[in-house]
Amino acid sequence: MSTFKVLDKEFVPYLSEADIQAKIAELAKQLNVEYAGKKPIFLSILNGSFLFTADLFRQITIEAEVCFIKLASYKGTSSTGNVITAIGLDTSVSGRDIIIIEDIIDTGKTLHHFLPQLAAQQPTSIKIAVLLNKTEALAFPVKVDYACFDIPNKFVVGYGLDYDGLGRNTREIYQLKES
Ligand code: IMP
Ligand code: MG
Repeated sequence: MSTFKVLDKEFVPYLSEADIQAKIAELAKQLNVEYAGKKPIFLSILNGSFLFTADLFRQITIEAEVCFIKLASYKGTSSTGNVITAIGLDTSVSGRDIIIIEDIIDTGKTLHHFLPQLAAQQPTSIKIAVLLNKTEALAFPVKVDYACFDIPNKFVVGYGLDYDGLGRNTREIYQLKES
């Protein structure tokens, strides 16, 4: 893996495809046990989570549904965008076990604003599964139930994550190069 340029920024290799896939396999194995017989709904938050969701869901062997929704826009390298209401939630979540699938938790703002809306529809349970957990950046009280990686508060791209819309289409994750 070599450095990766997206627009004006340089990124260095951070998590390899093998590291990512190993953690996803582990998570799938755990969810297959914990949610057996519950027919959970995997609620994937677009756009960043699409690759993570696909790789995770293809390893889910129990009966389960997947639903993709869109919540927020994200501009630049810090989480400033205002949260937009959920678009595309066309499945009833009432009485269902929900697993939210997020690419990354940064400040927690996005999910903090969305969770009460989801809870209002009275699902049986809501759990949060994330690929990347920027633990130091958390500013809103959000409980992450499953995290593949705890990462430092540095901007990352690749494997679904973008910098101004670009850089999503890699198998690895890259970290912003220190200047
Ligand atoms: P939060 O609301 O601050 O937790 O931000 C969550 C959203 O911000 C994620 O779903 C991402 O779309 C975006 N985000 C946060 N950190 C990064 C990053 O390092 N790279 C790319 N996107 C990020
Ligand atoms: Mg996202």
